[in-house]
Amino acid sequence: MATLPTRPIRIAPSLLSADFANLGGAIREAEAAGVQGFHLDVMDGHFVPNISFGPALVAAVRRRTRLPLDIHLMVERPERFLEPFRRAGGTRFTFHVEATSEPVELARSIRALGGEAGAALRPETPIARVGPWIREVDALLVMTVNPGFSGQKFLPEGLAKIREARAVSDRAGGRVDIGVDGGITPETGRDAARAGGTFFVCGNAAFEGGEIAANLARLRQAIRQGVEERHALP
Ligand code: DX5
Ligand code: ZN
Repeated sequence: MATLPTRPIRIAPSLLSADFANLGGAIREAEAAGVQGFHLDVMDGHFVPNISFGPALVAAVRRRTRLPLDIHLMVERPERFLEPFRRAGGTRFTFHVEATSEPVELARSIRALGGEAGAALRPETPIARVGPWIREVDALLVMTVNPGFSGQKFLPEGLAKIREARAVSDRAGGRVDIGVDGGITPETGRDAARAGGTFFVCGNAAFEGGEIAANLARLRQAIRQGVEERHALP
């Protein structure tokens, strides 16, 4: 018989895919549908070929919700932005390991500000990069698309990386969240959960067609199924 999952399933919609002219409504609807937080994609036009938003928007979101806000810093020199985003109400600060030569120092300054530290990896960056200092962070974010845009297709080679990230985290005591970001649908979300993901970012799949509650219910059910399948593995 399948053991019940020991960790709660956590889903965080990426507001990049929401209607920016009606963010308050999108937040309210997602929150009513039972999400565990929001994911905010910050892009600087250098680290990724797109520009999104800064601390002012995060502060506006913070005024509408008390849920954790995961700030995904797709920017060069992320250390410049920690304080402004912390002041704006960010909870977790997920920097890219490719954007810094001092990941440990960065993670420690995030924690010193009272935030949770996350380390994101582009699809081509191996998990081995974070192995030596995994205990310095609260979360890994495995990117399953090339960062920069929502609405892309899930890269299936990401599944092996999720499995590896989960194994590394489990060996380090299992307290590190394994986030998955990019191309999550009910199908890929289920696969990612079976591979060991614990935190699921979803953009288009949450907001498409404006059917936020129905979309999130489908995603949650599929992800829960993946978690159960993982627990049933021999
Ligand atoms: C991509 C972003 C993702 C993206 C997710 O650069 O980091 O968070 O917005 O959107 P979907 O789920 O549509 O791929
Ligand atoms: Zn993201």
